[in-house]
Amino acid sequence: MAAASAFSSCSALRSGSVPLRRWRTLLLPAACSTSSPPRSAASDEATIISGTKLAEQVLKEVQRDVESWISFGNKRPHLTVILVGDNPASHTYVRNKIKAAAAVGISSEIILRPKDISQEELLDMTVKLNKDARVSGLLVQLPLPDHIDERTVCNTIAPEKDVDGFHIMNIGRLCLDQPSIIPATAAAVWEIIKRTGIQTLGKNVVVAGRSKHVGMPISMLLHTDGEHERPGGDATVTITHRHTPKEQLKIHTQLADIVIVAAGIPKLITTDMVKEGAAVIDVGINHIHDPLTGKTKLVGDVDFEEVKKKAGFITPVPGGVGPMTVAMLLKNTLIVAKKLIY
Ligand code: GUN
Repeated sequence: MAAASAFSSCSALRSGSVPLRRWRTLLLPAACSTSSPPRSAASDEATIISGTKLAEQVLKEVQRDVESWISFGNKRPHLTVILVGDNPASHTYVRNKIKAAAAVGISSEIILRPKDISQEELLDMTVKLNKDARVSGLLVQLPLPDHIDERTVCNTIAPEKDVDGFHIMNIGRLCLDQPSIIPATAAAVWEIIKRTGIQTLGKNVVVAGRSKHVGMPISMLLHTDGEHERPGGDATVTITHRHTPKEQLKIHTQLADIVIVAAGIPKLITTDMVKEGAAVIDVGINHIHDPLTGKTKLVGDVDFEEVKKKAGFITPVPGGVGPMTVAMLLKNTLIVAKKLIY
């Protein structure tokens, strides 16, 4: 699949009807193949980046690489997921991971444990799986019950099997610009930016959210040196968080060429906060009550309908970073199976 097919139609560029203010954004390389420029002439709205279509591309590449790996006599990659308790969201995420793994030829298993499992039992199980030659990649789905220390669990997974990239060694290597297993959500954001052709060198980026598994690794990837062993984005990155006053957040986002939001706050980013033509990447996952249907619905952290009228690029929720995160997890599973890092 050509990269450009992950974007909405862009006949505007061909027809010359795109306002001058948006030309710079439109003329970015990957997003603007000659066959399919990235913006609708009629709406003059942001290019909506389809994470679903980009994920299909990545999954196809992973599937091809898995087949090639096996064709040389290697073992089929195998992903083991430990799932503790009955958190419905966790069960859904894990199901999605397992389904996608099967689609690309990666075998997998879920080890289900009750929420009252002791930390000791969980750690013992992890240590055994670390030594199990059948298992190429291992993850423990988070969050864990309160009596279990997540950091201890993440650090017990062997770094070379740590498909989440949450082990202190992988995080440390990420922070030192060394090759490491990159947490899937951060890898997804990076891949979306790169495959869309959004420039990062010298650009202003705001990352709203400083979580160790999402905001921090995204910030690391984007601000670090493009010529280092693990190349970064060479951007100027501002990290904001719950103690950043809203008016300060707005000052930062108004200057940003790229806004990445992983805060878990619906409509945190509104149109007045965004610079015209900016790229807006929404990592938010919020389940809210929809008064129209009476059911819950999934929304991100961005006021999508309004912000898309001003942004140059925008990712939707659902269908943006989420599917790419699953695809990048499977890419990580292949990386660990091939022992490309350790
Ligand atoms: N819970 C939410 N996201 C993740 C993830 O990327 N990995 C794990 N292990 N748990 C999660």
